[in-house]
Amino acid sequence: MAKLTRRAFVAGAGASAAGVGLVSAGRLSARAAETAGAGPQVLRAAPTTAQLLEADQPPTPVWAYNGSVPGPEIRIPRGKPFAARLQNGLDAPTTIHWHGVRNENAMDGAAGLTQPPVAPGEVFDYAFTPPDAGTFWYHPHFRTYEQLARGLAGAFIVTEDNPPPVDRDVVLVFDDWRIREDTQIDGASFGAFHDLSHAGRLGNVLTLNGAFSYDLDVRAGDRLRLRLLNASTARVLRIALPGHRLRVVALDGAPVTPFDAEDIRLAPAQRCDVVVDCMMDVGTRTPIIADTGRKKLEAGYLAYDAAKRQRTAVLGDPIVLNAWEMPGVGDTSAARRDLRVVDLVMDGGARTWLDTAQYEGETLDARTLARQHGKVWAFNGIVGKPDEPLARFARDEPVEMRLVNRTAWPHAMHFHGHHVREIARGSIPQNGLDNVTAVTSKSVRAGGSGHWRDTVYLRPQEMLTVGFVAHNPGLWMLHCHMLAHQLGGMATWYEVA
Ligand code: C2O
Ligand code: CU
Repeated sequence: MAKLTRRAFVAGAGASAAGVGLVSAGRLSARAAETAGAGPQVLRAAPTTAQLLEADQPPTPVWAYNGSVPGPEIRIPRGKPFAARLQNGLDAPTTIHWHGVRNENAMDGAAGLTQPPVAPGEVFDYAFTPPDAGTFWYHPHFRTYEQLARGLAGAFIVTEDNPPPVDRDVVLVFDDWRIREDTQIDGASFGAFHDLSHAGRLGNVLTLNGAFSYDLDVRAGDRLRLRLLNASTARVLRIALPGHRLRVVALDGAPVTPFDAEDIRLAPAQRCDVVVDCMMDVGTRTPIIADTGRKKLEAGYLAYDAAKRQRTAVLGDPIVLNAWEMPGVGDTSAARRDLRVVDLVMDGGARTWLDTAQYEGETLDARTLARQHGKVWAFNGIVGKPDEPLARFARDEPVEMRLVNRTAWPHAMHFHGHHVREIARGSIPQNGLDNVTAVTSKSVRAGGSGHWRDTVYLRPQEMLTVGFVAHNPGLWMLHCHMLAHQLGGMATWYEVA
């Protein structure tokens, strides 16, 4: 088989992205800009194959949107109506969740909560107006631990009214796959007990934009906006570009006060927008590092052109994105009498096994939960998505939630419908939780970044207080985005009236 060249990869991705508003390259094409919002775009979920391994290996059967892994990159302007038709070409039910978009509830795609799953051969029309610019993504929300891991995921980019001046705006999708010797996805291990009770379904192959090794062509003097997305189902990655300063401008789509970082930790589902100035010599080839904690993988390369870019004005001017409009935000102070304080205590998993927990209304011991139901985790003593929500909030109620990870494993907790502000972070106190009183987001406490996120990372034995105003009415999932953990019981929901 011919060696896979960068050109072959780019051409392949382009061919699969023929839909309105779907662009494979980093830039919004004139045609896409004109017609975006005229939709609906068709996103067809169906089996296909993808060249995930080196070029001398056979392709791998995957499930994909419009035949491409990752799915077509969708770029649309903020505040304009967007419509997409999901066509289910799988032989399993599916949905699409627009991860991170502060969406209308009916368009959230959470199977069994906001819509029924879409049967094989059926279609479902999504239509909404994204309120915020930022880096989001789309993926199924039915048996996500399998459907995402088989390849169903794509970037969903909502562009600013006045995009900041950069030379290239590029999405980098990191993904982790579990692939057998014969180059097939290891389908037999979906839902494996070891994965769901330990660190989740970790893979053995890392791809960048669907390729085993991805070259990002740059020119000396370029200013890049890189939109990093970790689409892995369990793998936490640290991304670095040796020799380049990473200036963080947004996290999970939401603008931050820019800061510099050596590397960026991305838990599953998290995103980070960084501005990178290409200051190395022409012809340089320098790795894009994805550090798994055990291994520093070269996921791809920045490949500097032999020529310089003829421009200098932009470099050095800091880029600051406009903050989102968040109703009531900043007003979750403990002084408010109506502040609602909710605890979410996370228990279970290997080493700190559950004792007993409630499942479908019954109190069961750990052995029964594990053996008969494959459940090993609980939130507040309750396993899986219960009939009753974790909490019911009044519209615009200010909320402070303490996430308490009493397990021996890290987790990536994802809130649907809202971004939440990281207010305070620290170890679980030795003398128990009773002595921890509500903190106030007026002064972001030590360890609390103050960042707005839709997916928050918790180390083992760590607690994190988040604040938000429950402004978005509906039924919203709250679950671990290490998807085998979600399957194993780490899922609940909350309601905003
Ligand atoms: Cu990215 Cu509940 O999902
Ligand atoms: Cu988890």
